[in-house]
Amino acid sequence: MDKQKLIQMAVDGLGRSYAPYSHFHVSAALLCADGTVYTGNNIENAAYTPSVCAERCAIFKAVGDGRREFEAIAVCGGPDGVIEDYCPPCGVCRQVMREFCDPSSFRVLVAKTAEDYREYTLEQLLPDGFGPDHLTGSGER
Ligand code: THU
Repeated sequence: MDKQKLIQMAVDGLGRSYAPYSHFHVSAALLCADGTVYTGNNIENAAYTPSVCAERCAIFKAVGDGRREFEAIAVCGGPDGVIEDYCPPCGVCRQVMREFCDPSSFRVLVAKTAEDYREYTLEQLLPDGFGPDHLTGSGER
């Protein structure tokens, strides 16, 4: 799957955002190691704090479906679903990515369109992050 196609899946999912409070619609498309793609969108709540971001929605859908190996995520969003700017993942979503993704190889595509996007590794967005390897003492860091 090429990057443009993954981004387009995120853009196409914007209409599924449920954001009646912020009116800021966000959509994500997560590429699994086996080639499967899970989309996700932000889902807000009248009590505010139970709201979930698009990125975590996609990751939780995938993990809930038994997938834990991921290669990349595309993210886009904007007021009322109109993409005016890049929409980088929030800190909580970066930490959730750190749980399942290799920081040096996992790619985050922050997109306006399929042609206009910024590409980061998770490491660039979350340097020296705390992950499962810190609890077990295993892994490289
Ligand atoms: N939001 C996301 O879905 N992903 C992010 O990484 C940034 C913020 C959502 C949360 C909330 O529903 C709305 O955007 C405004 O913050």
